Amino acid sequence: MIKPEELLKFIKDRRTIRCFKDEMIPEEEIEMILEAGQWAPSASNRQAWKFIVIKNKEMIEELSKIAIYGKFVREAPVAIAIVGEVHENPNWYIQDTTLASMNMMLEAWSLGIGTCWLGSMDREKAKQIIGIEKDNFLLTILPFGYLRRDEPKPPPRKDLDEITEYIK
Ligand SMILES: Cc1cc2nc3c(=O)[nH]c(=O)nc-3n(C[C@H](O)[C@H](O)[C@H](O)COP(=O)(O)O)c2cc1C
Repeated sequence: MIKPEELLKFIKDRRTIRCFKDEMIPEEEIEMILEAGQWAPSASNRQAWKFIVIKNKEMIEELSKIAIYGKFVREAPVAIAIVGEVHENPNWYIQDTTLASMNMMLEAWSLGIGTCWLGSMDREKAKQIIGIEKDNFLLTILPFGYLRRDEPKPPPRKDLDEITEYIK
């Protein structure tokens, strides 16, 4: 078992990365990232997700164009689109996929691989580019790559006092 303080430090040390080296990630590491997603909890264990691994440079370039705050995506050697299978669990596909995405980010970080949770984008265009079924939900596209620069300083967090309430 990992020590609690080590896990907490690891969680705190993870940073969003927006500069990637032009170096392919080995297949075994991509697979570990995918497995981390696969083992996320999901409502009723329905696993309402699909992970689409994109290595095609032209497609990654196209996607970077429709990411509003994500032009840096073009630097990533690999991107994984996280898709909610709406029909598989219509009430919970967002939660399922969100949890899978967090697992993947943490596993990537443990491998020295950075990523950024991409929120601002034209999802319909992105779905067309990737070829995602119309009825499915594109949660995010995670660009993955080794760090090209030192990791950024941690953006501050609100004080625990500010975000926590105790009911005694
Ligand atoms: C729902 C969500 C949407 C986000 N969308 C973007 C985005 O479109 N572009 C971007 O550069 N970063 C995006 N981020 C990354 C956040 O800016 C980043 O997580 C935050 O500044 C905290 O930094 P940290 O992850 O290094 O702790 C997003 C993060 C989340 C959780």
